[in-house]
Amino acid sequence: MKTITVFKGDGIGPEITDAVLQILDAAKAPLSYEIFNVGAAEYERHGALIPDDAFASFEKTRLLLKSPITTPIGKGFRSLNVTLRNKYDLYANIRPAKSNTAVKTPFPNVDIVTFRENTEDLYIGVEYKMNEDTVHAIKLITRKASERIIKAAFDYAVAHGRKKVTCVHKANILKMSDGLFLDIFHTIAKDYPQIESDDKIVDNTCMQMVMRPEQFDIIVTPNLYGDILSDLTSGLIGGLGLLPSMNVGDDYAMFEAVHGSAPDIAGKHIANPTALLWSACMLLEYIGETAIAAKIRKAVDEVLAEKQHLTPDLGGSATTEEYRDAVIAKL
Ligand code: NAI
Ligand code: MG
Repeated sequence: MKTITVFKGDGIGPEITDAVLQILDAAKAPLSYEIFNVGAAEYERHGALIPDDAFASFEKTRLLLKSPITTPIGKGFRSLNVTLRNKYDLYANIRPAKSNTAVKTPFPNVDIVTFRENTEDLYIGVEYKMNEDTVHAIKLITRKASERIIKAAFDYAVAHGRKKVTCVHKANILKMSDGLFLDIFHTIAKDYPQIESDDKIVDNTCMQMVMRPEQFDIIVTPNLYGDILSDLTSGLIGGLGLLPSMNVGDDYAMFEAVHGSAPDIAGKHIANPTALLWSACMLLEYIGETAIAAKIRKAVDEVLAEKQHLTPDLGGSATTEEYRDAVIAKL
């Protein structure tokens, strides 16, 4: 039995969290939970977006299932996600995008996992105003950060029986910065002879992705390209609704849906909990509970394929609870 920390979040967060925890229980996932209200609503109640005891729980369990949080506007808040990434050095942002029978797209064979470096590149946010008409921004690439994200991608490939890792870069122009990332990639690739490796320039990657997405397996890339490419992969599978993610470092791991708190449908019981549920499956796989994760994935696949209990975002009319019960019935 493992204890994990759960952040309930804002908007649809509480609804989808409840559904996911009930499905995990029905699947007999060997988990116990420390559950916290976090986010904008919690800030209104008690004056902190994330209460101290919620941080303390995560620091103890080191595993976090996080539902979306509304980013308060205009109060000088940093994004909570950025805070969590920096505070716990969650350097790998991992997004699997896989085509699904429930969502019709022109791309039925997408199965791409993007490993986005999460701590540096242009996202360190260091910009200098040289004069009224000129600004310099710093793109930071270090050996340490590059090595650990690239190793993480290859280790994931091995652990999940994947075939290929592609490094995406712009080293033809950014010869020193992306050049360093690419050099490190080729060096590390030699340690994984069983995994195919290649590299592609980012603009060509975008074109290839919409023409022949099935050629991609795992992608590893610096922060900015990862941000953009992972949204592109989301589009290939038909939007954010079915996208889980994990943010992982050496000591901590956080699992969350890619979508936000969906305030427009909050409280209406029509939110789709699948992305958060798949994030929970990634957590189960991360701690070695692969059989339980596979059981849940199979149940979800069946419910999605039958199309009898889809939520409105997937063209159905089921409530969150009806969908939840359909998944539980398959279990
Ligand atoms: P959003 O992802 O919350 O919503 C976009 C559209 O997708 C809406 O029409 C929404 O109803 C729909 N949608 C999203 N998730 C859904 C689900 N599970 N089931 C059914 N429909 C769903 O993006 P938006 O509106 O830009 O952001 C809302 C708030 O969420 C903002 O405050 C934003 O900062 C925050 N946000 C938080 C994230 C996080 O905590 N990880 C990530 C992205 C946004
Ligand atoms: Mg983004």
